[in-house]
Amino acid sequence: EFSLLSVQELIKDPNITVPNDYFHPNQEPPKLLNGNDHFRAIPTIDLERLVSEERSEFELEKLEATCKEWGIFQLVNHGVSSSLLEKLKFEIQEFYKLPLEEKMKYKIKPDDFEGYGSLAGSDGKLDWGDRLYMITNPVNRRKSHLFPELPSSLRNTLESYFQELQNLSRKIFGMIAKNLKMEVKEMEELFEDGMQSVRLNYYPPYSKPELVMGIIPHSDATGITILHQVNGVDGLQIKKDGVWIPLSIIPEALVINLGDILEIISNGLYRSIEHRASINSEKERISVAFFVNPRFDAEIGPATSLINPENPALFKRIGMEDYVKGLFSRKLNGKKYLDYMK
Ligand code: SIN
Ligand code: FE2
Repeated sequence: EFSLLSVQELIKDPNITVPNDYFHPNQEPPKLLNGNDHFRAIPTIDLERLVSEERSEFELEKLEATCKEWGIFQLVNHGVSSSLLEKLKFEIQEFYKLPLEEKMKYKIKPDDFEGYGSLAGSDGKLDWGDRLYMITNPVNRRKSHLFPELPSSLRNTLESYFQELQNLSRKIFGMIAKNLKMEVKEMEELFEDGMQSVRLNYYPPYSKPELVMGIIPHSDATGITILHQVNGVDGLQIKKDGVWIPLSIIPEALVINLGDILEIISNGLYRSIEHRASINSEKERISVAFFVNPRFDAEIGPATSLINPENPALFKRIGMEDYVKGLFSRKLNGKKYLDYMK
């Protein structure tokens, strides 16, 4: 039972036969790009410039075009120090080095979706990776056996990291509200002390990466997701104009994914991006995804300031609590959950 839960354990025995459930043999292949094209594949936004008094105009326009056409960008000059990112890398590596019995203290319990391990998809298939997923905000939603029980050095580092990402996401939402010509207050009220969660991802290498999947295609059900490739190994792929494109991310950049909730708020003007994670044939890959969402007591729906007789609402209104419940009673599957909100 242990080996099925953890890919990291499974591959400790090099002679083991990998169970069929891990194979995704018929995946759409990615488009091969050469050299620098990978770096150019998604736009780069400079946060310092975006929030500066004098220089923001160009960056705001770039952000607007990027949100409409891509739904994903790499954020540079984001203000999160490289020493904090180094600490984060060290602490997560240490976590995954813990003996299995230690990690099993955090294992996903029946009928829960938080914790350590991995869950099968709707087709019963498993991803090639181990995860620790937890709701981290509001603080009273933290499960007592998860975040509060983590090794204190990991917990403290994560706490500092969340603080930085909260500040950064507030700035991004402010700029997005400006671009959408929404009341900045309307956006702030949605996300202030919102639901936040984190997933620490550990993807072991596999000699035939085209046969396995780090995480199957999906769009994030979030406001935005802030992804960091902790140990600098690439693997993220996006589906753009019907083609899977592998990305090469600037090592010090953070990846910002627009999620379904932002597509809803913007009434379809912005698009959440479909993505998947591939496996490296030689190197382990570690990433951290931080999910930024509205408050649990908020109602999500197209921003009222964007709706008028010419622009009718394209999505239903739903309470955040119900949205989250619905999400976890279903499984990741392309952009299906968003369709259900129409
Ligand atoms: C995710 O989509 O949540 C994970 C992506 C990644 O690890 O690159
Ligand atoms: Fe994702």
